[in-house]
Amino acid sequence: MDFTFSEEQLAVQQAARDFARTELLPGVIERDEEQKFPTDQIKKLAQLGFMGMMVDPAYGGGGMDTVSYVLAMEEISKIDASVSVCMSVNNSLVCWGLEHFGTEEQKKKYLPALTSGASIGAFCLSEPEAGSDATSQRTTAQDMGDYYLLNGTKNWITNGNSASIYLVIAQTHPDKAHKGINALIVEKGMPGFTVGKKENKMGIRASDTHSLMFTDVKVPKTNRIGDDGFGFSFAMKTLNGGRIGIAAQALGIASGAYELALQYSKERKAFGKLLCEHQDIQFKLADMATKIEAARMMILRAAVLKDQRQDYSTASAMAKLYASKIAMEITTEAVQIHGGYGFVKEFHVERLMRDAKITQIYEGTSEIQKIVISRDILK
Ligand code: CAA
Repeated sequence: MDFTFSEEQLAVQQAARDFARTELLPGVIERDEEQKFPTDQIKKLAQLGFMGMMVDPAYGGGGMDTVSYVLAMEEISKIDASVSVCMSVNNSLVCWGLEHFGTEEQKKKYLPALTSGASIGAFCLSEPEAGSDATSQRTTAQDMGDYYLLNGTKNWITNGNSASIYLVIAQTHPDKAHKGINALIVEKGMPGFTVGKKENKMGIRASDTHSLMFTDVKVPKTNRIGDDGFGFSFAMKTLNGGRIGIAAQALGIASGAYELALQYSKERKAFGKLLCEHQDIQFKLADMATKIEAARMMILRAAVLKDQRQDYSTASAMAKLYASKIAMEITTEAVQIHGGYGFVKEFHVERLMRDAKITQIYEGTSEIQKIVISRDILK
């Protein structure tokens, strides 16, 4: 597999790096502390073309490949994972899902708004009693002829309040189990749809995570994605790509923390010499760099498989499993290298350590990734 980047891919990486340093770094600590959604930053990200990177230009997208997307995700996540989770959900779940499985009418109606930053999207699968066990959907979409009557509650929805276009997974034919589930496009403002409480989170605190309530929401049938009963398959296929985005987010969090620790080790002296002159620190840095490189290769492999239209479900699960694991390890080591300074906000690594944890939980916990991987190797 060739991982040589093209000039276009390198330009995307550089643009993302510059944007993260100039637009995201100032204020990142305050946004985290105040749980302030990065509205202006997301608008600027959209102007750069990063909210619909892989979408066909015919619908306002950037027409870029998955490799470019993961390069950008890594750079944005090095500085602000609250911004990158919004970017990831919009790109790889909402835009990708709509573009690949939506009707022409749905694509024309929703994609230009999602790619331009006029609207943000949310992906609504998790429920109070169906997080990992996603086939057990309690939200119902009752078939009423030319519309569905939507009832239920969704939990932990990224972009919960900032979004205006929601892809909602709901059960229509309980007797058919997961084959009776549908995916519906729900717009903010539809009568009966309310945004519930905002979660006060450990990490990615500037992103807005909410519960959502649906009470007799009338959703036109033209808003269903795919055939009747396609909803669960839609969610699984979409999440396969989403996991590449979250793996790239984990990689960015890890490499951001590593770069800070490396720099700090070249500046701080202890026992008469620089930290980086101590063999214990050198070994830590060597381990961190090796793990980052391994995660990067796995993520790029999954991205290339996706770009080549090959099966990438196991590759993306493996990349997410590994990248999220090393993100936790590396951010913890980065705090350790910083000593007491690592424990205070100004040095950024404590935030990265808190942000790393969610990458082992959302878009499927590490245990879910192991289910996906083991089913493939044992089939
Ligand atoms: N790709 C494509 N299809 C898949 C799939 C995959 N990765 N995993 C399962 N499927 C298909 C199966 O082939 C099967 O289809 P058929 O019946 O046609 O054969 C169907 O889905 C049901 O699969 P299983 O029988 O394996 O169902 P299960 O209940 O035993 O396990 C699961 C399914 C893999 C555990 C699934 O429930 C799952 O992935 N859970 C995790 C859900 C998740 O990732 N949630 C994240 C929420 S979104 C989010 O976090 C966004 C955000 O805010 C950042």
